[in-house]
Amino acid sequence: MGHPTPTVTDPAVPRAFPAEGSIRRLWPVERALFAAHLLRLDAEDRLLRFQGYLNDEAVSAYVDSLDWFGGVVIAYFVDGEVRAAAHLSWNRGQLVRTGEIGLSVEAEFRRRGVGTALLRRAMTIVRNRFVSDVELLCMPENTAMRRVAAHLGLKWKVASGQAESAAHLHWPDQLSLFDEMMAETEGLMRSSFGLAKT
Ligand SMILES: CC(C)(COP(=O)(O)OP(=O)(O)OC[C@H]1O[C@@H](n2cnc3c(N)ncnc32)[C@H](O)[C@@H]1OP(=O)(O)O)[C@@H](O)C(=O)NCCC(=O)NCCS
Repeated sequence: MGHPTPTVTDPAVPRAFPAEGSIRRLWPVERALFAAHLLRLDAEDRLLRFQGYLNDEAVSAYVDSLDWFGGVVIAYFVDGEVRAAAHLSWNRGQLVRTGEIGLSVEAEFRRRGVGTALLRRAMTIVRNRFVSDVELLCMPENTAMRRVAAHLGLKWKVASGQAESAAHLHWPDQLSLFDEMMAETEGLMRSSFGLAKT
């Protein structure tokens, strides 16, 4: 028997923000920036990110195949480059929506709270898309990812050589919609007014 699935009440979760850079939604026309970020990950990081090694061609094919209607990429920008990203996807068209989140932060930008900030933002966004349950997968030895999820109160269970974490999300409400709107506005303001170079 695994642990009970936690319910994430994201408006109650404080919205931390890394001092450097800015986080905002990535638009489909900017997909090359997302691909460049993933291609900068080394072999070990790609293994951790995708639970299997992807070569450069496979990474590019993954980005080209993204469904931008059934998913969102949120990106952490520093000096115009994407240095970290979360890909949120869900089964659009279904009555009960479930989702998945994949997270990556380039090595030199780690341990500053960027991964945690992206995951918090991701949880709010999927909730606002009426996703009721979201799943995170990682390799059992991926302590960093397990700690990131623990920051949001998520617990892991290990089965079949994979660590899984699931969260049940509330329906969206005014607070969660406001939270997403404010976070996106903040990201755009930071880039527009030079508070962060994006
Ligand atoms: C997992 C990952 C996204 C974390 O990003 P990050 O920006 O460093 O995350 P944060 O700074 O918010 O938090 C990292 C936490 O992991 C801890 N951590 C990092 N490396 C660690 C290690 N090797 N051993 C133990 N803890 C570690 C940090 O101390 C921190 O925890 P704390 O705040 O409780 O001290 C990043 O390491 C990464 O991209 N890894 C490769 C891809 C991957 O594993 N993706 C996840 C699967 S989808």
